[in-house]
Order: sequence, then structure tokens, then C-alpha cells
Amino acid sequence: MRPLVVGVAGSARRDGNSDRLLKAALEGAQAGGAKTELIVPAEFSFSHCLACEACRPDGQCVLSDAAGEAYRLLLSCRALVVATPVYFRGLPAPFKALVDRAQFLYFRRWELREAGLPQGRPAVLILVAAGEESQFRLLKEQLSPWLSTLGFRVRASLGVAGVDRPGEVAPEELARARRLGRGLLGPG
Ligand SMILES: Cc1cc2nc3c(=O)[nH]c(=O)nc-3n(C[C@H](O)[C@H](O)[C@H](O)COP(=O)(O)O)c2cc1C
Repeated sequence: MRPLVVGVAGSARRDGNSDRLLKAALEGAQAGGAKTELIVPAEFSFSHCLACEACRPDGQCVLSDAAGEAYRLLLSCRALVVATPVYFRGLPAPFKALVDRAQFLYFRRWELREAGLPQGRPAVLILVAAGEESQFRLLKEQLSPWLSTLGFRVRASLGVAGVDRPGEVAPEELARARRLGRGLLGPG
């Protein structure tokens, strides 16, 4: 069976800069033998985390919606590609809402100390911004605890600065994203 690589599309804009890079990375992963699934938080219907703490004793979220399905994919995949633009130095709101829904898993991993959760799976980060490279700093920090809660480690990052209108991303960057996707399941 082909290993699963999941892509998370952070943008609210379909076929924009980060989407194009994500598509290239997932095509690369497919060329490397993976099957791929896409999670698009902006197109999912799900609630934000209610901070109800119901998941604290047993790690089970009481909400039943598309975020649950997204986390089933994120927990079962072999590797991850995240591609997102910077919004006000941080994550776009729909993606941030999905990140917050990982609270059930935060308790399972860090408080309940559940054994057997995935660890050390490779992830590629693809970030785009209209401004300079410095725009990526907070976004990377914001993603870091979510990735470790899920059991991913960042194998490679591609930051494309200075792109704003859809399609401004250069062919060389698309080729770079494709290579990162292709190498995602290899040794590293
Ligand atoms: C709501 C919003 C907030 C943004 N905030 C920033 C920002 O803080 N820094 C920056 O460099 N670009 C910012 N941008 C520009 C986007 O990061 C840029 O247009 C990017 O290429 C969009 O990627 P996409 O085509 O994948 O959506 C913002 C764009 C939007 C729509």
C-alpha cells in the first residue's frame, strides 16, 4: 500500500501562491510513490475549540465535525506538507481554528502521556508572504507546538517572500516545492 502524505492548505484563496506550491509538493510526493490527501480548513465546516476541557480527562473531543476527520488523517499519515500564507504575521484564521482543535491531542500526548502516538514523522513547511523573510518568524513559532503535538518534525522549509497577487510565485520555487515533496518519504 502506498504511504499517505497529507497536505494542509492554509490559504482562504484557492489556487493562490501557497496552493500552487502545495500542489507542486504533493505532485512530487506522488512521483515519489505516495498517495495524497488534502485538508482545506477554509472550506471545512467545523467549530473552533470551545475550551470546554471535556477532552482533558480522556483525550476525547466532544465535537463531531470535519475537524475530527482532518485529525484522523493527520494522525494516520506518514508525512505532512503545510503550505500557508502569512496573515498579520500569523496563521490565517481557518487554519488557526483547526490548530486549536488539536487540544484533545495535546492532552493525550503531554498530560495523559499516551503511549504509541506517532513521533518524528517528516513535515515540509511552505510559507508565502507579500513582505520580507522576517514575516515568517512568528508563523513558524506558531506552528511549532502544533507540529510536535501531532508528532511531526520539520524536515525542510521553503519560504517564498515578496509574493502577493495569485500566481506571482516563480517557476523555480514551484520546482523547489516539487523536489521537497519528492524527497519527503526518503531518508533524511
Ligand atoms: C488578511 C491578510 C493578511 C495578510 N497579512 C500579511 C502579513 O502580515 N505579512 C505579509 O508579508 N503579507 C501578508 N498578507 C499577504 C499574503 O501573505 C500574500 O498575498 C500571499 O501571497 C497570499 O498567499 P495565497 O495566494 O496563498 O493566499 C496578508 C494577506 C491577507 C489577505
